[in-house]
Formats: sequence, structure tokens, C-alpha cells
Amino acid sequence: MNVKQEIMDVLGQIKMQLTYSQEIGLDAPFLSTKTLSYLTRGPQKDTTPLGEESCWNSLEELENFISNCVRCRLSRERKNIVFGEGLPNATLVFVGEAPGVEEDVRGKPFVGPAGKLLTDIIKAMGLTREEVYICNIVKCHPPGNRDPGPDEIGTCLPFLKGQISLIKPEIICTLGRVSAQALVGKDFKITRDRGQWQGFCGIPLIPTYHPAYLLRYPQAKRQVWEDMKKVMRELGLKDPRELED
Ligand code: URA
Repeated sequence: MNVKQEIMDVLGQIKMQLTYSQEIGLDAPFLSTKTLSYLTRGPQKDTTPLGEESCWNSLEELENFISNCVRCRLSRERKNIVFGEGLPNATLVFVGEAPGVEEDVRGKPFVGPAGKLLTDIIKAMGLTREEVYICNIVKCHPPGNRDPGPDEIGTCLPFLKGQISLIKPEIICTLGRVSAQALVGKDFKITRDRGQWQGFCGIPLIPTYHPAYLLRYPQAKRQVWEDMKKVMRELGLKDPRELED
């Protein structure tokens, strides 16, 4: 680990402790207004070039590095860390929000009902799960399936950046509001901005609806397919549905 990463790690842990104290109602009179505002602000849009995040030599090394992670309170109730899986040099990376109940039990991303739909979307693109990479913004299941908090996202983000910098995908596809806001910025609005190209550390990023949303609103599948066609065009993949005609 380089010095910058080590300092970021220590700051992340201090921030987590301070946020926790605040949440359980402990007075923190020693905190300056600036520090308090840092604690309540969400993660900021990241413009750091990816190269600076490469302090691990492989995905395996990074996975080992966080294998006993207790950097945030999600570690208290999780069963397994869900690191991510797929092709280590995939051209396309899907980024979800956080592991669900089934993912927590199995230690694999997107293996529950929403995952089955994601697998179908990937197949409809003419790809397999093994040909892409699938991971989440946070690697541990938030109790009660709540959204991960800004502090938890901030703590886990360096590891997603590590994954991205090792994989070096051509395209990142975020699934749902939480992951898009974490990577693009708090101003991102899923209904307004989905399907519009964004960027994360210089990598083209397309945000689309979360498959769990599609399970509730199947009529939105058409929009997701439009977004996936943009991805296929960018990757030079033929639409398998057109090939059938
Ligand atoms: N939802 C997510 O965002 N990620 C998973 O891995 C599963 C469900």
C-alpha cells in the first residue's frame, strides 16, 4: 500500500468512527464546522486519474486485502464480503449498489432475483456473466436492505476504484440511483440522466435502471434495452435480436 492510500485509509476509519458517534447521539464538541460538513457531505465526484489507485497488483491481492474488513459498520452483520466476479480484464463492468440477502449468504454479486434478470440482460446482449465483470459500490450487505450510507460508500469506494483500475474496462454501467450518484455525483437523477453517457476517472459510464426496479416496473425494460444497445454499439457488438431478423 502506498503512503497516500494509507493516509486515506486512516482518514476513512476516523471518519467512520466520528459518523458513528454522531449517529448514536454522542456530542462531539471538538469537531470544527468544516469537519462536520465533511461528515454530512456525500462522496464527491471523483476526478483522480485511475493510475494513482493501482496500489494492488491483482484483483486477488485486492480481495485478500479486504478479506477481513471492519472499516465500517456493515462489517458487523454481514455474512460474507461480496467482492465481485467475472473476467479480470473485462471490457464491460456492471456496478450495482450493495449485496442483497442472497448475495450476502453466497458471497457472490447479483445471484438473487434481480441478479437473474441482470444475467438475462447480459445474455440478451450476446454476452455471458463470465465475459463481463460484476460488482457493487459497497461490498457488504446493508441490514434490512437499506441504502448504504455516504460514510459506508466513501469507505468502500477506494476498493471499487482499485478494481476498476486493475480491470481497465472500456465501459462502466451503473445499475440504479445509488451507484450512479456514488460515481457521477449527488446531482445525478436517475429518471432524468439514465442512458446519458457520463464518465468516471476518464472511463465512459452509462447509468441505467437497477434490475430490482425492473422487477417492480417491467415497463422500464424497454429503456434499459435502449441503454444496453448504446453499450453494444460502443463495444462494437452486434445486437443479437437484429441478427435473428
Ligand atoms: N442488488 C445489488 O445492487 N447488488 C447485488 O449484488 C444484488 C442486488
